[in-house]
Amino acid sequence: MANAQDLMRETIERIVPYSPGKSSAEVMEELEIETVTKLASNENSLGPSPLAIEAMRAIAEDVFVYPDPQCVELTDALSERLGVGPETILVGRGSDEIIHMLGLGFVNEGENLVFSAPPFAMYPITARLMGAEERAIPHRDFRHDLNAMADAVDGKTKLLFVSNPYNPLGTIVTADEVEAFMDRIPDTCIVVWDEAYFEYADDPAYPDTLRYVREGRRVAVLRTFSKAWALAGLRVGYGAMPEDIATVLKQVREPFNVGIMAQAAAIASLKDPDQVPRSVANNNAGKSYLYAQFEEMGQQYVPTQSNFVMVDVGTDSVECFDALMRHGVTVRTGEIFGLPTWLRVTIGLPEENATFIDALRAVLGK
Ligand SMILES: Cc1ncc(COP(=O)(O)O)c(C=O)c1O
Repeated sequence: MANAQDLMRETIERIVPYSPGKSSAEVMEELEIETVTKLASNENSLGPSPLAIEAMRAIAEDVFVYPDPQCVELTDALSERLGVGPETILVGRGSDEIIHMLGLGFVNEGENLVFSAPPFAMYPITARLMGAEERAIPHRDFRHDLNAMADAVDGKTKLLFVSNPYNPLGTIVTADEVEAFMDRIPDTCIVVWDEAYFEYADDPAYPDTLRYVREGRRVAVLRTFSKAWALAGLRVGYGAMPEDIATVLKQVREPFNVGIMAQAAAIASLKDPDQVPRSVANNNAGKSYLYAQFEEMGQQYVPTQSNFVMVDVGTDSVECFDALMRHGVTVRTGEIFGLPTWLRVTIGLPEENATFIDALRAVLGK
């Protein structure tokens, strides 16, 4: 019998399954160590709101029932919070699923997708899944090169992704830059503002892209409960977009895409006024600590608007990663982002940040 790969759709040959890096359990087993400080996936180790935990406990016995397929209560709560109509909001199994739906809903084979290099992994995966061309535009000084991205758009560009703050580099594009950029994009292209980390951005020049949703422009603004809200394990995110775009995505949405516990936890989280400020305060404290340590050690870093920092360790990032792992710390190597001497480290709790710095000092002999 032929191998199933001979039967596979040709367009997906280019997809390399997403590699999340080693899990903490794998690292602990391999190195026979008791604990791992995981600063590799931009999670929020402060953990979720107590209200979310209470809501999950309360609903645990009801999980034999399918969830609300329209996520009505969560959609209404988000609509009120964001100041956009409920018809513009779509909830997904993480914002990853909304990216996936944008691909399924809009991208024909032979069209193209524009994004920055290095990209967030879901953008090239979506292009490959749909048989589309990838137009990856190199970053410029660690920032999106919006002019070059706009230059890359043509009549066959369906989606243009801007992760703002930019994962993995941590920088932002500003309201003025975004305004000038939007004027250059034809209405045959949907600009996807991927704002997974927007809660952490404290630069006053950070743009209000929801305005474009209210104005009915060709945009989708994606946000998530995985980061500041610390619900990554539940998989719940959302998009805000003009109603005609949302209507298309509803045609490709799986029924019951967001689990009952995820919906309950997200709804309860939104009732907790302390969760985001708590997360942001921890992040800001961690950021200051890491900057001070990097400066003392003489390591260059990219000031971040997010919950992770890129730092130049001045040595091979894969070797440095391996050495850090032996100290029980996992991060991301820059080599996968085209920055072979850099690491991306998630900002964690104070003790996690200190563990990382101790390990880095030991590894670099500083
Ligand atoms: C830029 C960016 N977009 C989207 C996501 C997806 O988030 P989720 O699917 O957990 O909502 C992430 C997760 O790391 C991200 O970094």
